[in-house]
Amino acid sequence: MATAHFSTPSPYKTERPSAPEEDFLYTRFAKDFSLKTESEGSNKVIGIALFGAGRAGTVHLRNLVKNPRVDLLYIVEDLESKWENIRKYWQIENVKFLSSKDQEQVFKDSRVDAVIVASPTFTHESIVTGALLNGKDVFCEKPIAENNTSTENCFRLARERKQHLFCAFNKRFDPSYQHLRKRVQAGEVGHVHMIKISGKSSPLASLDYLKTSGGCFHDTVVHDIDVMCWMLGEYPSRVAACSQAHIPEIAAIGDHDTAAVIFTFPSGTIGILDWCRYSSYGYDHRLEVFGPKGIIMCENERPLSGIKSQTNGLEGPLSVSNYYTFSSRYCTAYANEMEHFLDVLQGKAEMATRGPEAMAVIRIATACEKSARTGRFVDMEWGPEFDERGS
Ligand SMILES: NC(=O)c1ccc[n+]([C@@H]2O[C@H](COP(=O)([O-])OP(=O)(O)OC[C@H]3O[C@@H](n4cnc5c(N)ncnc54)[C@H](O)[C@@H]3O)[C@@H](O)[C@H]2O)c1
Repeated sequence: MATAHFSTPSPYKTERPSAPEEDFLYTRFAKDFSLKTESEGSNKVIGIALFGAGRAGTVHLRNLVKNPRVDLLYIVEDLESKWENIRKYWQIENVKFLSSKDQEQVFKDSRVDAVIVASPTFTHESIVTGALLNGKDVFCEKPIAENNTSTENCFRLARERKQHLFCAFNKRFDPSYQHLRKRVQAGEVGHVHMIKISGKSSPLASLDYLKTSGGCFHDTVVHDIDVMCWMLGEYPSRVAACSQAHIPEIAAIGDHDTAAVIFTFPSGTIGILDWCRYSSYGYDHRLEVFGPKGIIMCENERPLSGIKSQTNGLEGPLSVSNYYTFSSRYCTAYANEMEHFLDVLQGKAEMATRGPEAMAVIRIATACEKSARTGRFVDMEWGPEFDERGS
C-alpha cells in the first residue's frame, strides 16, 4: 500500500496519551474507580438540613440524597402538603420534615453540621443567622439577604463565629466557564479589551416568585456580574445600566424583564451584559472574551450533541433545542458546587466564593439597579475590605 511507510509501532509498545484534563467526567470516574480516600482533611459524614424544597431546593436535593458524604437529617418546607410526596419520591424515610415555625429544632440539633438555604429570599437572613449562631455552616442561595446591610450582617456574623457562609454562585462551578477562565487568566487573548455576557432565561418565572425575588438585578443579573468579575479578577469602577418592562405583569410589580449594562473596569476592560427574563426558545447563555490576541467564547450547550443528518438530499448538523432552563444547563455546576461545599466542610478545599467577593457582587447589582432607575452612570470605589483574600 502506498501509505504502508506511515506504519507506526503497536500502541501497546508506545506511550499512550493520558485522559485530557477537560474530560471532567473521566476525572470523576477515575477517582471513583481508584477507591482512594483523600488523606487531607476529615472524612466525617456531614449532617445536613435543607430549607426549601422548591426549584432550587429540588436541584440541591438530588445532589444530597444519594451522596455518601451526607447524612440528610431535616427538610424544612412550609408546604406541608409536599412532605409525603418528597419522602416517597426520594425514598428518604429517615429524614424529618418540619415547617419553618419549628426551625429552632434544626438549630439546636448537634447532629446538624450545615444548612442548605433554598427558601425564598426574604427568609434567608433569619435562617442564616439562626444557623450561624448555633455553630452550623451555611450554604445559601443567592441573594444572601434582601439588602446590602442584612447581607453584610450575615457575613460579619460568619466571620465572628468562624463559620462558613457560602454564597451559591453556581456558574463558577460550570466546567466550561472554569476552563475558559483558566485560559483567559493564562493570557490567551492578552489583556482583555472586552467581555460580553448574554443571558436570557426560560421558562418565565411565576409572578409569585418575582414578587419576592429582590428585582432582576439582584435575582438573576447578579450571577452574570459574578461570572464577569471572577473571569477578569477585578471589579468595575463604573456601571451604566438601562432596563425595561415589556411584559405588563412584570411592569405592574415594579420590576423589569430586559436589561443591558456596560461596565468599565480599572484596567480598561469594557464589560457588556445583556439579559432578558424570558426567552421563548429556551435557556440562552453565552459568553465571549476578546483581546489583542483573539477571542475565546462559550456558546450555548445543548442537551444532545454530535447529531447530524443526511436526509432528503440535504446533509448537515441537525439543530437541537437549547436546554429549557437553568437546572438542566447548569446541572453539573450545581453538583460540583455542592461537592465543593462538602470539600470545604471536610477541610479539603478553601471556600471558592468568599464574603468580600459576594458582597462586592451584591454592591455592583445595587449600582446597576441605581443606574437603571436614575438613567445615570454610577461610579464605584473599592476599599481593602473587598480584597478577595478576606474571609
Ligand atoms: N442559584 C440559582 O441558580 C437559583 C435558581 C433559582 C432560585 N434561586 C434562589 O433560591 C431561592 C429559592 O428560589 P426557588 O426558585 O427555589 O423558589 P420556590 O418558590 O420554587 O421554592 C421555595 C420553597 O421554599 C418553601 N418555603 C417558604 N418559606 C420557607 C421557610 N421559611 N423555610 C423553608 N422553606 C420555605 C416554599 O414552600 C417553596 O417550596 C431564592 O433565594 C432564589 O433566588 C437560585
